[in-house]
Amino acid sequence: MSFDLVLFGGTGDLTWRKLMPALFQAFRHGKLPAQGRILAVARDERSDDDYRRFIHERFEEVESAKRPSDEEFARFAELLHYRRMDLSKPDDYAGLKACIDERGAATVVLFLATSPHLFTQICAQLGRAGLNGPNVRVVLEKPLGHDLQSALEINRTVAASFSERQALRIDHYLGKPSVQNLMALRFGNALFEPLWRRESIANIEITLAESIGVGTRGEFYDRTGAMRDMIQNHALQLLTMIAMEAPASSDADAIRDEKLKVLRSLKPFSEADVARDVVRGQYRAGQVNGKPAPGYLEEVRVPPGSRTETFVALRTEVQNWRWAGVPFYLRTGKRLAMPDAHIVINFRTVPHAIFPGANRANKLVIKLQPEDGLELHLLAAKGSGQHELLSPVSLDLDFDKAFATERVGAYERLLLDAIAGRLNLFVRSDEQEQAWRWVEPVLDHWERDGSGPRPYAAGSWGPPAASALIARDGFAWDEEQ
Ligand code: BG6
Repeated sequence: MSFDLVLFGGTGDLTWRKLMPALFQAFRHGKLPAQGRILAVARDERSDDDYRRFIHERFEEVESAKRPSDEEFARFAELLHYRRMDLSKPDDYAGLKACIDERGAATVVLFLATSPHLFTQICAQLGRAGLNGPNVRVVLEKPLGHDLQSALEINRTVAASFSERQALRIDHYLGKPSVQNLMALRFGNALFEPLWRRESIANIEITLAESIGVGTRGEFYDRTGAMRDMIQNHALQLLTMIAMEAPASSDADAIRDEKLKVLRSLKPFSEADVARDVVRGQYRAGQVNGKPAPGYLEEVRVPPGSRTETFVALRTEVQNWRWAGVPFYLRTGKRLAMPDAHIVINFRTVPHAIFPGANRANKLVIKLQPEDGLELHLLAAKGSGQHELLSPVSLDLDFDKAFATERVGAYERLLLDAIAGRLNLFVRSDEQEQAWRWVEPVLDHWERDGSGPRPYAAGSWGPPAASALIARDGFAWDEEQ
């Protein structure tokens, strides 16, 4: 199947850091459909060869196993083409359309890897130029809006030119093999389903911890903050996969309908809830992995006195029959003790303990990254003393070892799906809008509230208030147990 993949923002960070390495991996693995063209679009004048050289040099910054040899790059580079465009000029879109029509590829994917403030303008122009035929799909990178209002605005403009099935919204977490595995775990195995409910589960914890700071993205990050950057999208998507009912089929809309129901069931935040159930923090200087790390306010291009949060911990509930009363704790932050994304399903303790000693609960830890695996924590009798003393033991499963073949990276998977028109791993507009609707009262409250984020030391697990939030219910974060 021939395709044209047009990368708007063809010289930008996202293109050379993520998209080109992913496309090269797909090419190397022989997964990119034959007869493809990758057409990068940007403002300055360059020839195809200039562009190929530009991308080749950028590959130096890619981890070595994923870097092409000169010979491999020469073959990959045959796919790469460049076109100058001024995104405000209708004539330039007409020129792009002519260039695409001339080739007549079966599928056209328009990937907007530009700053999001250009999305509405580009989509409107694409529609006017007729670059929205049935074989065209448009891919939108996050952040999709800054709040509900701006997300609605983007979705309205996109919908004026493209149908819902033509508009692919990326949440790159959905492309990670470990995240896809959540669906397989729940709906490919009969084992967990009878236990996956309020009667057996005490609470659920979702942690997305990073040890890196904001790096060179200070300006963008300061306008965004952890709530918009990680909770509104990645963390909520994970929550929907853990809490959703079994979809009727693996069809994209069957899955997205169930995810949307979860988002609609999330307990809305009142003013009092935000004050009680949400903790925001901002890192101060500290030590990460034994090395000194600056505070957020000392990072490049972060305005003095900024009150942007780099950490969020919150408690919520999914208000339906399966989950009523089960707390879901979500936590994310930059410059935390270690990079660690995982979900913990904490089961209830036995109703009546007959063994001496602590009555510990079973838990299932779903490790998302850097490791990708499952740990099932059980209790067993060692049989070494007079009394049957219970000792904790765990069953460990490492998916990288279990599946010895190299696993496909998130962007590689999402780009291949976009070309093939598989929509399962893309976010539908109503899911995205509902997620904004849910976080907005928190953002509004923070806007009005003078107290600002709580400080935490780089290299810690966030402000002590995050531990207090979960301790209030008699629980503890995984690393504190
Ligand atoms: C992005 C955020 O969406 O996800 C970044 O904008 C964050 O701030 C990144 O670092 C984390 O993704 P990953 O794949 O490194 O866990």
